[in-house]
Amino acid sequence: MCGIVGAASARNVVPILIEGIRRLEYRGYDSTGLAVLNGKDGTTLERLVSTARVVDLDAQAQARHLAGTTGISHTRWATHGAPSQVNAHPHTSGGEIAVVHNGIIENFEALRERLRAQGYTFRTQTDSETIAHLVHAHWHGAARGDLLHAVQLAVAEFQGAYAIAVISAREPGRVVGARQGSPLVVGLGEGDHFLASDAAALLGVTHRVAYLEEGDVADVRRDGYAIYDAAGQRADRAIVEVPATAGAVELGPYRHFMQKEIFEQPRAVADTLEGIDRIDASLFGERADAILRDVDAVLILACGTSYYSSLVAKQWIETVAGMPCTVEISSEYRYRDSVPNPKALVVVVSQSGETADTLAALKHAKALGHAHTLAICNVATSSMVRQTQLTFLTRAGTEVGVASTKAFTTQLVAQFLLAATLAKLRGRLTADDEAKWLRALRHLPAAIQGALALEPHLIAWAQAFAKKQHALFLGRGLHYPIALEGALKLKEISYIHAEAYPAGELKHGPLALVDSEMPVVAIAPNDTLLEKLKSNLQEVRARGGELYVVADLDSHLTAGEGLHVIRVSEHAGLLSPVVHVVPLQLLAYHAAVLRGTDVDKPRNLAKSVTVE
Ligand code: M6R
Repeated sequence: MCGIVGAASARNVVPILIEGIRRLEYRGYDSTGLAVLNGKDGTTLERLVSTARVVDLDAQAQARHLAGTTGISHTRWATHGAPSQVNAHPHTSGGEIAVVHNGIIENFEALRERLRAQGYTFRTQTDSETIAHLVHAHWHGAARGDLLHAVQLAVAEFQGAYAIAVISAREPGRVVGARQGSPLVVGLGEGDHFLASDAAALLGVTHRVAYLEEGDVADVRRDGYAIYDAAGQRADRAIVEVPATAGAVELGPYRHFMQKEIFEQPRAVADTLEGIDRIDASLFGERADAILRDVDAVLILACGTSYYSSLVAKQWIETVAGMPCTVEISSEYRYRDSVPNPKALVVVVSQSGETADTLAALKHAKALGHAHTLAICNVATSSMVRQTQLTFLTRAGTEVGVASTKAFTTQLVAQFLLAATLAKLRGRLTADDEAKWLRALRHLPAAIQGALALEPHLIAWAQAFAKKQHALFLGRGLHYPIALEGALKLKEISYIHAEAYPAGELKHGPLALVDSEMPVVAIAPNDTLLEKLKSNLQEVRARGGELYVVADLDSHLTAGEGLHVIRVSEHAGLLSPVVHVVPLQLLAYHAAVLRGTDVDKPRNLAKSVTVE
């Protein structure tokens, strides 16, 4: 992934570059760096990097009184080469060209060999250093000292994905950007212009942005900018006003953003449901009625937590709407041979709307002839929203913690509305059903609040889990995806190895793992599978496994030796997964706090996964 920022201004851009990448840390935080042009005529290239967080880069910049009117900055999620000082961006060439890069240049080895033969020396293990040398070679060659032309020639040689920002010490006041497969926006200021991976990075300086399209190259200067398409022709890209609220997030009284976001769920769910007083195709956009009537199946594409919410949705769509639904992991779907059904609705589910695998899966689906597309997404300005016919925006608000929480529960709400809408369009939803589901949805914030009140019990459970190396999560039916999500949360932030199984599968292998060192979490709602699940729990107890059961108020399960039980609300029927996931989030959160991990920025991860 990585986040990049560029700025050309009459004022000192160092604070803008630093604040920009601070806002982009969700894209990776393995190292940070910046390069500026300063000196008497603005032609001295200065570079500063840190393997600590942006706050350290800022301290270093202040200590050195670093200033400059043209510059670029970067926050890194390492792909090629360890997260070290030497591999940190910006990468430079000849003391003249500096580059920041988000993405992967797949043919970098061939380019590197060619450039080595031309006399360039490579200092890093990154693919990105190749970009600096290639631009430098073109600048001194066919581009005849023109940075825009040099970048255009360079990107024409790249295979892979990139968003780049490039400066030249020979051309102060100018930043050239390019994108293919990774996002990049031009920010329009007053007497200054910017580049960034995400408009939110620029909200401190401008709310007006133009989104670059695939293959675009942008020539950004203090007093203006020009965009060229992949064919090198001038291109007009709409200027969009970004709401001031985007990216504005404060921690408030909470210790971590993840904790805050878990506790925001009643409001996030209520906001997502706000104004919805009937189940109707118009929830998904103006053209939704005709499109949703035309489809006969659903194909959902997603990754990570969004994939798990979609596994719940599959069951809802098949149960409520009676339509076949397939859910695929985006990174698998895009590379396997599948048999397209042109009448299927392709749904991409994503918090960020920028996940590279899901964007690529969407593109793949379109190439296979899928015409009907819907994005369920939390970011209105995201690539996914711009690339689909229909949209449902979840209103979780900005999610900062790498571990997704409120995005998950709001995605569930959105996907239940989709299932109910498809059911209604197919005559499978009576007026009574519709009223009943709306009441049940509106009750969710209170039910989630009830689950949040269980926090003291989860802290006690977390004390036991924090000492373990492994954990097993069990669920059945609608709650198997919730077990998967609970296991993902635990491993992601506490680094405890966790696996999830459908409880009925236990005896087919994983039961061999169960002993007194293996805590087993079971999600036990009071549904038709409860009695079956109880038998599975007996199998665990018989092997000395310690059981931690998340039950409903009305489940008949009693705590005892080796059996810990907490109860959420009364059984919430089909919507029960939205409530049952909450204690699992709290368990993971408190286990991580007790183990002293960096909860909001767990090692090796990033909030938005914008590389393949
Ligand atoms: O932004 P997206 O929802 O597309 O992100 C997908 C996954 O990268 C994301 O859900 C990831 O699994 C989370 N860190 C899980 O908490």
